[in-house]
Amino acid sequence: MHRKALDGTQGASDSRSLEAAGWRLEDMDLTAIDLPLALESEAVLLLLVASSFIESGTHLYASNLVAHFEGDQEVSAWLAQHWEPEELQHGRALRAYVTCVWPEFDWDRAHASFIQSYRPLCTMGKLETRRGLEMAARCVVETGTTSLYRAISAHVREPVLRTLLRHISEDEIRHYKHFFRYFRKYQEHERSSRVAVFGALIRRSAEISREDTDIGLRFAYAERCLGSSNTERTLDEVRSAVRALLRHSVPVSLASAMWLRPLQLAPYAEQPARRVFTLAAWASMACLA
Ligand SMILES: [Fe+2]
Ligand SMILES: [Fe+2]
Repeated sequence: MHRKALDGTQGASDSRSLEAAGWRLEDMDLTAIDLPLALESEAVLLLLVASSFIESGTHLYASNLVAHFEGDQEVSAWLAQHWEPEELQHGRALRAYVTCVWPEFDWDRAHASFIQSYRPLCTMGKLETRRGLEMAARCVVETGTTSLYRAISAHVREPVLRTLLRHISEDEIRHYKHFFRYFRKYQEHERSSRVAVFGALIRRSAEISREDTDIGLRFAYAERCLGSSNTERTLDEVRSAVRALLRHSVPVSLASAMWLRPLQLAPYAEQPARRVFTLAAWASMACLA
């Protein structure tokens, strides 16, 4: 069941840049969406909209990142030619999915409002001064997106969305591996202490939970209220549903391993650290939005 087929007008992909991803939005059959299954959870769809806003805003901070790593040809080239096009494809794909399921949802209008609030947050001042620490912080972001998309995938039954989320989360894992490799490259020279790396991880984690998700969700919800279909839920009820989804489905073991990896802990410290991470993760999910 479907409302519309993807006609390629959502934004052309650069096949060269997306080669590493191994999938293209244009090759996905959105006409195969099972609409009754897709409409099962309004909170999931609002979360997908919020994610599409953030992914589509990648260009706002990609230029800051490229500037931060100016002179490092390997990193700059990967960011501009692979990472950014892949993140933007995530945004296009999530947008295409949601607007197939909710054709009445004015994504452009909602996105324009979102960007007005989001743009001022994407400043060079948000980046870690030391390049290696910024790479560690980027590992946090990719840990968050991997966990989020895996959690949604575990929660939903609609097959096209599950395929799409698998593609996206595989990209996020690959991004993580790149950032982690670059982190180690910079650590060879910068030799930031474990405390300094931990500080970078905590700062970026706090920023993500404080800003990105909630802003995206607020503007997604606001548009849903403006639209013709309206919603019977309050924003707080949507937030509660999202929290419940994350609590139930986030792959905590994977997330803790990814988050902690830049600390390069000794094996005896790994297990206690994972327990602390798990508690912190629950606390941050409780504070979401
Ligand atoms: Fe992404
Ligand atoms: Fe990513």
